[in-house]
Amino acid sequence: MKRIHFGVFAVVLLAIVAFLLLFSIHPRLQLTENATPAPQAAAVMPVGKVVQIKPPLGLPPVPIPADNPPTAETIALGRKLYYDPILSADGTISCASCHSPDTGFTDRHPVSLGVGGKKGTRHSPTVINSAYNDLQFWDGRAPSLEEQAKGPIANPVEMATTHADAVKRLQANPAYVAEFRQAWGTDQITIDLVVKSIGSFERTVVSGDSPFDRFYYGHDRKALSASAQRGLKLFMDPKKGNCEVCHTIGKHYALFTDNKFHNLGVGADVDGNLNDLGRFTQTKNEADTGAFKTPTLRNVAQRAPYMHDGSFPTLQDALAHYIGGGNQNPHLDKEMHALDFLTFDERDDLLAFLESLTGPQRDNLGPPAGNKNTAGGE
Ligand code: HEC
Ligand code: HEC
Repeated sequence: MKRIHFGVFAVVLLAIVAFLLLFSIHPRLQLTENATPAPQAAAVMPVGKVVQIKPPLGLPPVPIPADNPPTAETIALGRKLYYDPILSADGTISCASCHSPDTGFTDRHPVSLGVGGKKGTRHSPTVINSAYNDLQFWDGRAPSLEEQAKGPIANPVEMATTHADAVKRLQANPAYVAEFRQAWGTDQITIDLVVKSIGSFERTVVSGDSPFDRFYYGHDRKALSASAQRGLKLFMDPKKGNCEVCHTIGKHYALFTDNKFHNLGVGADVDGNLNDLGRFTQTKNEADTGAFKTPTLRNVAQRAPYMHDGSFPTLQDALAHYIGGGNQNPHLDKEMHALDFLTFDERDDLLAFLESLTGPQRDNLGPPAGNKNTAGGE
């Protein structure tokens, strides 16, 4: 009897082992990120009531992707994730480490520092109004905020983890499991739900209603100083500052970006050699060599240092680059001309205008209550 039982047991055990083995080696059955998604897997949608994100004065409606309408729960979850170093390999770096509200949702290092102080190659751009960007990153390599957010988590010089490990840490945290269930109606945390939640929070990080907006769109003549008003004229005038050609101001709203890529010669040496090929790395189009996405200028006074390589410590330095007409190189944008004819008063007026683009910080954008990692701006 005993023998027979043992035989049956062995056969069953063998079958189980064989089954597990098949699962782990068969490529289509592997439960990794590279696995082919099941064809019927429809996008998981939030379970709560969809909320409207009300744009402040001077901004258009916030674009919302069809598969990620924001709810109070997904926004709150995204906010918590944004400030939580749990997403990084050693629990030291959150999104806010490099995009802190204290520094206009950027950081104060020329190039960002990730896990272990590892240096990246580019300056952290602002998250403010990134919801309006056609493409994300200085070189436009991500098509959406959701796709963008996957980048830093797995980037070895940023959060230095893997998507699978980040998800595993969240899944092991009962508070997160409860919040994901509340927001998304599932106990199964996935990287897609992580980045969709973060994306919904980022869509609330909008800035308008600045002195400029109250003057230009709100028709409050006293909102801007006389100097900033003169600066606005210089900014718009193609024969003077010629800034608006790229940092767009529309009839009903101003994004201060044309969402295009331009070469200003930032980072070019005296021989015109560039430190970064920018948009060219994505398109391989010769004309895109050294071109970077026009950044918004909202809250720009809070966001030093400036440009894709953080090479200008102050706004004055950034302006001086334009006064000089940019650095010569074979791909310098045709809209770049020396502005050395501007008087010193006019230069001060342009600076006063740039300083008028900072709006009040909206509620619920800082670290959520109970967050231990309030150290921003590192
Ligand atoms: C170690 C610093 C660091 C961390 C951590 C980090 N970022 Fe970034 N972020 C950057 C840098 C640098 C860039 C620009 C990289 C490039 O263009 O190649 C960037 C780009 C972006 C952009 C694109 C903005 C634009 O105008 O194109 C967004 C949005 C963003 N990050 C959000 C996030 C979110 C969300 C997280 C957390 C999941 C995060 N970042 C974590 C440094 C960081
Ligand atoms: C040809 C298009 C173009 C014109 C004209 C232009 N800009 Fe820019 N601006 C850009 C681009 C592109 C960048 C980023 C370049 C880089 O990092 O290499 C930028 C960056 C900046 C920055 C730094 C912002 C940041 O986030 O680091 C400031 C400030 C600025 N511009 C102000 C101005 C002012 C003031 C004028 C007019 C005197 C002007 N720009 C004219 C395209 C333009």
